[in-house]
Amino acid sequence: MTTDHNAQFAVGTETVDYEVMHGTEGPSVVNIASFYKDTGMFTYDPGFTSTASCESKITYIDGDAGVLLYRGYPIEQIAEQGDFLETCYLLLYGELPTFQQHQEFVKSVTYHTMIHEQMNRFYAGFRRDAHPMAIMTGCVGALSAFYHDSTDISDPHQRMIASIRMIAKMPTIAAWAFKYSIGQPFVYPRNDLDFSANFLRMCFSVPCEEYKVNPVLARAMDRIFILHADHEQNASTSTVRLAGSSGANPFACIAAGIACLWGPAHGGANEAALNMLEQIGSADRIPEFIDRAKDKNDPFRLMGFGHRVYKNYDPRARIMQKTCHEVLAELGIKDDPLLEVAMELEKLALHDEYFVEKKLYPNIDFYSGITLRALGFPTTMFTVLFALARTVGWIAQWKEMVEDPSQKIGRPRQLYTGAKRRDYLPSAQRG
Ligand code: SDX
Repeated sequence: MTTDHNAQFAVGTETVDYEVMHGTEGPSVVNIASFYKDTGMFTYDPGFTSTASCESKITYIDGDAGVLLYRGYPIEQIAEQGDFLETCYLLLYGELPTFQQHQEFVKSVTYHTMIHEQMNRFYAGFRRDAHPMAIMTGCVGALSAFYHDSTDISDPHQRMIASIRMIAKMPTIAAWAFKYSIGQPFVYPRNDLDFSANFLRMCFSVPCEEYKVNPVLARAMDRIFILHADHEQNASTSTVRLAGSSGANPFACIAAGIACLWGPAHGGANEAALNMLEQIGSADRIPEFIDRAKDKNDPFRLMGFGHRVYKNYDPRARIMQKTCHEVLAELGIKDDPLLEVAMELEKLALHDEYFVEKKLYPNIDFYSGITLRALGFPTTMFTVLFALARTVGWIAQWKEMVEDPSQKIGRPRQLYTGAKRRDYLPSAQRG
């Protein structure tokens, strides 16, 4: 990073100089940490549309060009040539693993996939029809009750163990949330299966017959996890960083991230996008819904469309669409009606003045729902799969923050527009 002093802020007759910091890619930043001390004013940026909350080396997004890099590697190359656990290693440690490092990391994750047997009872406390994201939020938060030996965030060894435990146990917790919701017995992880094959088996095998993992579907699942692994300082990652800045244990921080991801404007959009496609039902109804999405008085939005950062095609959406076609072909699903609606909707929206002018393109959630439904998951599981994959991104960002010597507790201020000071009135005098 390089810096220079060429940002000035004029306040009345005064001008104040600020340091400009230049990164390796993307916009530079003005360091305004002393702005309040210098001017007696706060800056104002609800939604953080122009605010860099931290310095990071993990993921870079160029929203105008539709570029996504994990530690400098293009998402297209990683998704095509890599695997999810290799991506986890890259995000956590900054470099692609050697063969030996990869083997050791895979072994370490594999031997942490079981969860404490007593956690089994947590599920029984939920209604069978509980949303799996509610179960995930509860169970992941509870992990700190079982693994106190990896909650001292000042100890690098405990941070590493907690990171591995989170990555390894999320598939088991997620699969059991699914099994519980459909009233089927839990399936334990197997050490002779790779990460994604193990997950599919825990979700779809039943005690009555042998389950054979389809390698094409396991590869598709693994690629979907890669696409969702990290995405810079999005809402849920910022939640994890803010929770972590108070010194909270990593399990509690990840549970906070899961809760934030659940929102339909964020990770919940994959579930909402599929529900929207089902609501549209057929291509002839698309114009009606596009009109509604454009109507300021109608809260309806095209789910899976638009993005705070991407003002071009989300590169993950292209790969997801390709994966969608591969999965449907492997399963012999021809002319999936929802895929037809999605592709027609995309075509019409991308030629509509409103979407063109506002630079609204399909994002990762637009095609993921069709793919996940074809793999056999109910819509309520879609955001759970997003959380499973994003856990490594949350953990990597949390680790980077904890290891940053300059980090301090996050504590934003406000513009106060409430009542001025006034004295208490006893109720008899309140009229
Ligand atoms: C994810 O941040 C990340 O990196 C997130 C994520 C990740 O990997 O972590 O990429 C994952 O969350 C993807 C986004 C999933 N959400 C959806 O698909 C929900 C639908 N999209 C919108 O809700 C919206 O586009 C957001 C929330 C994604 C982004 O909203 P912004 O950046 O706050 O933009 P905005 O709401 O200010 O929209 C700008 C304009 C507005 O119109 P004007 O007020 O300027 O007239 O575009 C309009 C919006 O009304 N608009 C849409 C729209 N998205 C934005 N209009 C119709 N349909 C949409 N989908």
